[in-house]
Amino acid sequence: MHVLILGGNSDVGAAIAAVFARKQGAFITLASRNMELGAKKAKDITVRYQVEARAVSFDALDYDSHVDFVVGLESPPDVVVAAFGYLGDQELAQQDFQEARRIIETNYLGAVSILEILARDMEQRGRGTIIGLGSVAGLRGRQSNYIYGSAKGGFLVYLSGLRNRLHKAGVQVLTVLPGFVATKMTEHLDLPPKLTATPEQVARDVYSAFRFKRNVIYTRWPWRWIMTVIRSIPEFLFKRTDI
Ligand SMILES: NC(=O)c1ccc[n+]([C@@H]2O[C@H](COP(=O)([O-])OP(=O)(O)OC[C@H]3O[C@@H](n4cnc5c(N)ncnc54)[C@H](OP(=O)(O)O)[C@@H]3O)[C@@H](O)[C@H]2O)c1
Repeated sequence: MHVLILGGNSDVGAAIAAVFARKQGAFITLASRNMELGAKKAKDITVRYQVEARAVSFDALDYDSHVDFVVGLESPPDVVVAAFGYLGDQELAQQDFQEARRIIETNYLGAVSILEILARDMEQRGRGTIIGLGSVAGLRGRQSNYIYGSAKGGFLVYLSGLRNRLHKAGVQVLTVLPGFVATKMTEHLDLPPKLTATPEQVARDVYSAFRFKRNVIYTRWPWRWIMTVIRSIPEFLFKRTDI
């Protein structure tokens, strides 16, 4: 099994790579902008799990390179994990369109560009799994992160349509909805410990959802209920809140 992690230096992506290496003996490709770090992580996976692992160069925003990137892979991937993302700075994005653009492009456009190419290939081969790291932030816009949330929201709709399209080809599309995860993306935030998962916990949930051919999962599971409550608040009340 060949597992391609797009955003291979992401803490969650690296944890997912590790679980596939351990449980499936998978061949791992870590695709990232930072080849030095990617190579280190690939070597670590090889040493720990006795599997083949490679680092390859990938920039989600370099759209013109995406076809060559896929053609250049050692073999067609069986599992693709879209783990790259950019939280950005909401306040800055309100002032500076370049920040808003980077958030939207990284979390949405970049994902569409690369996944459409990989999806075509899986559709033709009639098998494979695409795993997209969305976010509960994509389920309802909040003042504190609505630029990021709207990009993730677009990504969630995209994954839903992709699943609908690829179902008849026998390709699984798994949408992952993490709540808070303790990673370098959130290290500057003061997150509630009880609601904050480790990348390893998220990776275990993702692997189990892959095995059971699930469509959409929340991780950790309490987020399903938290978001049910948050989504049920009527708009006339929600607009007055500060959550
Ligand atoms: N952490 C959370 O609380 C949380 C919650 C909900 C959803 N998520 C989502 O889960 C996924 C994994 O996040 P994480 O927490 O593991 O964050 P992370 O450790 O900060 O990883 C994000 C990765 O995205 C990569 N990236 C950014 N722009 C890129 C680009 N243009 N091309 C290629 N790679 C790019 C970064 O690569 P470099 O190393 O090159 O900078 C970084 O390694 C993301 O999609 C994130 O939005 C995270």
